[in-house]
Amino acid sequence: MPNQPLPSGLPIIAARAADSHKGTFGRALLVGGSVGMPGSISLSGQACLKGGAGLVTLAVPDAIINTVANFEPSYMTWALPTDRTGRIPLHAKARLNEKLHSSDCLAIGPGLGQTRGLFHLVSHLYETFSKPMVIDADGLNLLAQRDDSLAGHAGPRVVTPHLGEFRRLVGKPHLSMEDARDMAVDVAGNQQVVVVLKGPQTLVTDGHRHWHNPTGNPGLATGGTGDVLTGLITALLAQSLDVYEAALLAVYLHGLAADLAIRETTQSGLTASGLLTFLEEAWRDYE
Ligand code: APR
Ligand code: MG
Repeated sequence: MPNQPLPSGLPIIAARAADSHKGTFGRALLVGGSVGMPGSISLSGQACLKGGAGLVTLAVPDAIINTVANFEPSYMTWALPTDRTGRIPLHAKARLNEKLHSSDCLAIGPGLGQTRGLFHLVSHLYETFSKPMVIDADGLNLLAQRDDSLAGHAGPRVVTPHLGEFRRLVGKPHLSMEDARDMAVDVAGNQQVVVVLKGPQTLVTDGHRHWHNPTGNPGLATGGTGDVLTGLITALLAQSLDVYEAALLAVYLHGLAADLAIRETTQSGLTASGLLTFLEEAWRDYE
């Protein structure tokens, strides 16, 4: 909660050196969005900026690029082809590769949608991208369709399922939250990924360590707040935190922003874009 001592285990971000430049804070690439769903990836991008990443680029279908660009002038956009369903086709891989080389980390999933082409694209990136990567939302729903959903990745990975997405990942449609929490620790350890199992008291685990987040409130139960969390984790990866630390600090700050927000608004009045405006205050509280 605000103004209480920080819980132990939270990483420390050093103050910015006077001679730092935008490259110091990393280049983040976020992939998502589809026709009819331009907001999610923008929320992630805005959260990534507010999380302190030096350069943020959103790779989105060209059909929605102007909409996404108009939401926020501080990130860049990178046009991918749009297929006839309004989503990104598999052949966007080449165009995406041009940007991947110059990116320090990657997030994929918010507003992405699901097609056969996207299944192959997400699987390919999961299996081959050697730098840190966050997978959320439809990115997770697509990974869930792989034979062994989280196996065989090429670099540090953070997956951010809510209970429904976690059930799909492990192929257990009736899993309780309590059992999911136990299983998340096993899955993280076995697959060598960081699992952020979202909900009240979000669990963060790498299989060896686990942490229950003390911040956050039911005001967060509104569409888009998960996208904000994805952007925030990506920002901390861009700044070279390791996957466990980035997930932990992002989850903490995200919940803290919500706790600060409802002092001034209400739980019912909290929106994902409203939450963004409290991230700065959460940072100040943390620093
Ligand atoms: N208390 C504290 N935190 C909560 C609570 C609660 N009662 N409910 C939700 N949260 C937090 C979660 O911990 C998480 O950080 O809010 C965030 C919600 O993230 P998501 O579940 O990913 O929601 P989001 O993606 O923003 O929007 C709903 O999820 O089921 C999918 O496709 C569906 O697009 C929809 C999306
Ligand atoms: Mg979500």
